[in-house]
Amino acid sequence: MMKAAYITSRPDIGKLTEHLQLDETTIPTLTASELKPNQVLIHVKAFSINIDDVNVAQGSMLGGIGIAQAPYPTKSNPHVPGSAYSGTIQAVGSKVTDFLKGDRVFGFNAQPFLHEMGPWAERTIGNPKNLLKLPNNFTFVQGAALVMPLVVAGDMYDLAVPSVAMGTERVMVLGASGGIGSVLVQALRKKFPKLHIVGVCSSKSNDFVMKLGANSTIDYNKGPIHVTVLGSSANDNSNFDVILDCVGGYDYYQSAEKILAPRTGTFITCTGTEQWIGDRMFTRLEAFQYLWQTFMVPLIYNRLPGKHPYYYFAGPMTFGEGSRMIMEQKTIPGIEKVIPFEEDALKSAINLVAAHRAKGKIVVNLEA
Ligand SMILES: NC(=O)c1ccc[n+]([C@@H]2O[C@H](COP(=O)([O-])OP(=O)(O)OC[C@H]3O[C@@H](n4cnc5c(N)ncnc54)[C@H](OP(=O)(O)O)[C@@H]3O)[C@@H](O)[C@H]2O)c1
Repeated sequence: MMKAAYITSRPDIGKLTEHLQLDETTIPTLTASELKPNQVLIHVKAFSINIDDVNVAQGSMLGGIGIAQAPYPTKSNPHVPGSAYSGTIQAVGSKVTDFLKGDRVFGFNAQPFLHEMGPWAERTIGNPKNLLKLPNNFTFVQGAALVMPLVVAGDMYDLAVPSVAMGTERVMVLGASGGIGSVLVQALRKKFPKLHIVGVCSSKSNDFVMKLGANSTIDYNKGPIHVTVLGSSANDNSNFDVILDCVGGYDYYQSAEKILAPRTGTFITCTGTEQWIGDRMFTRLEAFQYLWQTFMVPLIYNRLPGKHPYYYFAGPMTFGEGSRMIMEQKTIPGIEKVIPFEEDALKSAINLVAAHRAKGKIVVNLEA
């Protein structure tokens, strides 16, 4: 048996830590004999805790839309949660050509849709399509922290780049202190030194976001962001060219509409019309509305004339161009803390992530 975190029943929202167990009694140690030809066996060295890992385990990913969840866990089929990890390759399947035994790698397993095994364990089975070689100047902890922001911030970056052609435009990042937002702020700053970047975060995250490279921050607790922007005496030009949204919800979008440049402004979200999607279950009607508004409306909306901003949803399936650029920059997300692979530490970390209070990523270091 291997040391692994697992659940044998599906928790209600907010109850994952009451169901989660961590021991060496239940999950069999994975071996090379279990590999399919296009899989690799990974010795996990570190993994990060992402809000969607919690959502998938609770069955509330994308508001509970059926195919986005992991298989229902049972005693005979326990569920190992997680997605993003780093480690070394222990064995490769017969058709794998890009990786060799001993390679240091980082990447993710996809539980929604693909039902791959989570990596909150000493070993996992990886899909080479979603793995990258970990550069020598990255630690395993940094690699595990970077995986999810690399995928999502990379895609958001690619969508934003056409709108920051001069490099002097005004950009706002909603959720700038989070895992994805903290990478976006740094990546944009490194690539465009003269860009004007405003980070939206709580006042306690102000110093952190300023150090990442923001010109200023807005505290979302002080009221709607458009009111703060339009009421600020320091605001010489209230229009933003791009707003990158890592939080979601109508309120933020409606505020954004009021401060984005008419006709040319661009709104890019990785969450859509629901704030912190996964915090609650949708009704069927809400699920339909969410999917329609997220994927169909922008197709129509972006072609209609008018003052409204362009609207894009970032829902990448794997690493893209922006990811490679961010990796070359060696941009690392903020790391709230690194914890050992122990039950109490893991559970309090999950609660912090689920409360949306983690400043950047929390990483579990299996070598600690
Ligand atoms: N589309 C995709 O493919 C995809 C993939 C992965 C994740 N996601 C989604 O992306 C979102 C962000 O993920 P993440 O990992 O970056 O989140 P995260 O790191 O868990 O976010 C936590 C941060 O959010 C900030 N925050 C909380 N409430 C806020 C508010 N009202 N306004 C602005 N900031 C707020 C907190 O900052 P303060 O403490 O300063 O308040 C904290 O730093 C999640 O909803 C996740 O589901 C989408």
